Amino acid sequence: MASVPSLASTVHQRLADALSAALPEAGSADPLLRRSDRADFQANGILALAKKLKGNPRELATQVTDALNSDGATAGLFKDVQVSGPGFLNITVADRAITETLAARAADGDRLGVPLKENPGVTVIDYAQPNVAKEMHVGHLRSAVIGDALRGMLDFTGERTIGRHHIGDWGTQFGMLIQYLIENPGELAPAADEAAVDGEQAMSKLNRIYKASRAVFDSDEEFKERARKRVVALQSGDKETLDLWQRFVDESKVYFYSVFEKLDMEIRDDEIVGESAYNDMMAETARLLEESGVAVRSEGALVVFFDEIRGKDDQPVPLIVQKADGGFGYAASDLSAIRNRVFDLHATTLLYVVDVRQSLHFKMVFETARRAGWLGDDVTAHNMGYGTVLGADGKPFKTRDGETVRLEDLLDEAVERATAVVREKAGKMGLSEAEIAENGRYVGIGAVKYADLSTSPNRDYKFDLDQMVSLNGDTSVYLQYAYARIQSILRKSEGVRPAAHAELELAPAERALALHLDAFGELLAEATAEYAPHKLAAYLYQLASLYTTFYDQCPVIKPKPPQDVAENRLFLCDLTARTLHQGMALLGIRTPERL
Ligand code: ARG
Repeated sequence: MASVPSLASTVHQRLADALSAALPEAGSADPLLRRSDRADFQANGILALAKKLKGNPRELATQVTDALNSDGATAGLFKDVQVSGPGFLNITVADRAITETLAARAADGDRLGVPLKENPGVTVIDYAQPNVAKEMHVGHLRSAVIGDALRGMLDFTGERTIGRHHIGDWGTQFGMLIQYLIENPGELAPAADEAAVDGEQAMSKLNRIYKASRAVFDSDEEFKERARKRVVALQSGDKETLDLWQRFVDESKVYFYSVFEKLDMEIRDDEIVGESAYNDMMAETARLLEESGVAVRSEGALVVFFDEIRGKDDQPVPLIVQKADGGFGYAASDLSAIRNRVFDLHATTLLYVVDVRQSLHFKMVFETARRAGWLGDDVTAHNMGYGTVLGADGKPFKTRDGETVRLEDLLDEAVERATAVVREKAGKMGLSEAEIAENGRYVGIGAVKYADLSTSPNRDYKFDLDQMVSLNGDTSVYLQYAYARIQSILRKSEGVRPAAHAELELAPAERALALHLDAFGELLAEATAEYAPHKLAAYLYQLASLYTTFYDQCPVIKPKPPQDVAENRLFLCDLTARTLHQGMALLGIRTPERL
């Protein structure tokens, strides 16, 4: 494994050196290097620097240029450095340097020369957190998709990640559910054909119980009272109650796993650590907060106040740690989870992928944990709050009769549409039915994931299946086809093998593609540090577009160019495919070989 410095970083370094040699008082000034249309790179930093030091920008630029052009060490790196305008530098890199750098990337397997972070930390990432005995909705889909992509990206940079699926498996609704079950035994009984129980069946059973128990709860005061007592029994660990609770959890997990499997996403059982897991810590969490004065008693409840958080009538909105009836809720479990994640899991970053509508909750929870000393300066806590999923009409995503759309139906429909698209093209490829079905799954699920990931997470996004499976535009299937097309070229190119030829001159489309390929590692570092999978998606889309232009302008096999040119172009094809594959894999999206 050998990490390969990008051309941009090498050029940047040389430029900074030349700059401080020409102008020692500038110290380590930033030459502000950018990709440019006119040359490979443009440096805009000299202008501001010269002005600041009351020098002449053009003179300084000329001095730096002369140094770069004559410097023996840089001779191999630059083809041309020119002063332009009032003091910009236009920099063209030598073709040899480009091809050699890419050859080093190609020799580095799946890592493609991308360095590992120097000081990796431990990120505990809280994502994919559905609720027990409840149907998952599109919001849960976003958390799962974004969380999974962020995790892939973080892992690739060398960060250690620990997943936490903070499922809603605790709270007052379980009193109602369990009490109902006790009074209506057999409702949760295994189906006659136990082996055939799948996720959907599990859910519809839970749904039925949920609705039925809710109906009794709302209409029967005495039942309500019994349900309330049942909550107390649950929280104090009564055996019969806990056993029934466990069955709800188990049945729900069958459902969760079926959805995650459909999503082509790996969820580990030991990382499903829901609200209930912190039950034993909650009393202590409350006690510590009260003793330290971080939380105070108010009308019987234990709460935390914040100066700047106020609701209607300018009344302060507190975080409720413990209710007046003694029960612990959502905040107490999150506060306990922080203690566990920081002190037992040794997290340096706590990342939450949760709906932006919970951002106030997290703001209060983080602030409370800071006051209590559980979150120190050495731990970062961040809620990657994501926006709402809208329907194609721009309104919150609902079925025609106003119900939330069932996640499974949605995924099934995406796969169905994608399969139709795949089938249309499959004839030429001679794909079998099984291959069509598999590709349909990868394309359909990829489409759903990509549509989500290619929008900035904090923005709302439109769930528009027609657009998602379109072959044109910024979609996953466009990227998947680009990948498959390259694989097909590689299969068909008899007598030509990918090989770098550094002595060759590069055509403009080859250069543009090559420089973009070289920037993969830097882009990834930036997108990961900012928790911005959409930047990786945009990079990949641009990669596929640059590849299309390259393929149009630079024949690879037909009409056959000279052997060395063909090999070098095939080398670019291969590296493009590998970069696409790796980038998509980090986002959790498959790239079928034959499509
Ligand atoms: N289960 C919650 C919901 O569906 C999300 C949990 C988010 N994670 C957390 N640590 N609070 O709204």
